[in-house]
Amino acid sequence: MIIKSLELADFRNYENIKINFSRGTNILYGDNAQGKTNILEAIFVSATTKSHKGSKDKEIIRFGKEEAHIRTILEKDNAEYRVDMHLRKNKSKGIAIDGQKIKRASDLIGRLNVVFFSPEDLSIIKNGPSERRRFMDMELCQLDQIYLNSLSKYNKLVVERNKILKDLFEHPENSVLLDVQDKQLFEYGSVIIKTREKFIKDLNEIIRPIHEKLTGEKETLSVFYEPNVKLEEFESKLKQARKKDTYAKQTTVGPHKDDFSFMIKKMNADDAIDIRKFGSQGQQRTASLSLKLSEIEIVKRAKKENPVLLLDDVLSELDSNRQNYLLNTIGDIQTIITCTGLDEFVNNRFEIDKLFKVTEGTVSSEN
Ligand SMILES: Nc1ncnc2c1ncn2[C@@H]1O[C@H](COP(=O)(O)OP(=O)(O)O)[C@@H](O)[C@H]1O
Ligand SMILES: [Mg+2]
Repeated sequence: MIIKSLELADFRNYENIKINFSRGTNILYGDNAQGKTNILEAIFVSATTKSHKGSKDKEIIRFGKEEAHIRTILEKDNAEYRVDMHLRKNKSKGIAIDGQKIKRASDLIGRLNVVFFSPEDLSIIKNGPSERRRFMDMELCQLDQIYLNSLSKYNKLVVERNKILKDLFEHPENSVLLDVQDKQLFEYGSVIIKTREKFIKDLNEIIRPIHEKLTGEKETLSVFYEPNVKLEEFESKLKQARKKDTYAKQTTVGPHKDDFSFMIKKMNADDAIDIRKFGSQGQQRTASLSLKLSEIEIVKRAKKENPVLLLDDVLSELDSNRQNYLLNTIGDIQTIITCTGLDEFVNNRFEIDKLFKVTEGTVSSEN
């Protein structure tokens, strides 16, 4: 699939722009704070309905305006279609495909698959569990509607349950509500746990050869799922934790507390080490890169087509070996790259199909 064009109205610092992309490599360059990332964010929103940064719609709408519009023309299986999004300050967004309104945001998911790569992604392994969960969720939500629906229901339930827990001392009668919620938490939480288990299994097959190549066959990387609670024990642990949860005023058991570990074994070492805690900064960054590169392959396998790759200022973060590896992986994938300068690309014999200069909320095509 590819994205043919993007039109924005009152989106971040853009008043009104239209960009026609090439199906190959597109570069957006310009100084800091000109609006390069905002373009990639708009594409991410049209693919997933959400901002990659987790920004709310009202933060995305241009300062002083009431609403924003995003229009993308996509091409998939030789057919073109148009996705329109209408972001409003205090209402949920309106979405239409070829002029036909869709009821649930999840009906859009999977039409356009994107892999978004930003410098912060190189810290996924160094950072806390919530970032690692976010990574897995972002990927799974794009690929699996059932997961997306279960996760959003589950997350809402946790928020509601925590609210009830907060005033349970004043309203002990509400504990019957907790019984109902626990059943639903178990129902949706089970889907999350099972899907994550399968995802990590598939991920391991993909990430291992990538990481071996990236490290010149020096390291083997394995990813492990560390569920907060095992599926078989989920229901009983939830029950057992009720008293503790009441005192803590929050839900302490469930997949919203999951983590994933990354273990590296050097070729001639006996044991693997947990690089979240014991890895060098370099090891953590390389493993994070392997993880992002796996994402491309995961989408390819699941969708039988290429995702659109969005690289936000990330090439300058990598040494030339890693850069080359990344650029070689791209192959015939449509790629949209942002950067501040152009030298690095020229040096890398990089083929640029379309070049855009971004200046203060304007985008001009330079070829
Ligand atoms: N809601 C908004 N309305 C108008 N401008 C915004 C909004 N949100 C962010 N901006 C502006 O967007 C610019 C940052 O854009 P960004 O795409 O991150 O720049 P960069 O080119 O460095 O990637 C800043 O100048 C910021 O003030
Ligand atoms: Mg930026």
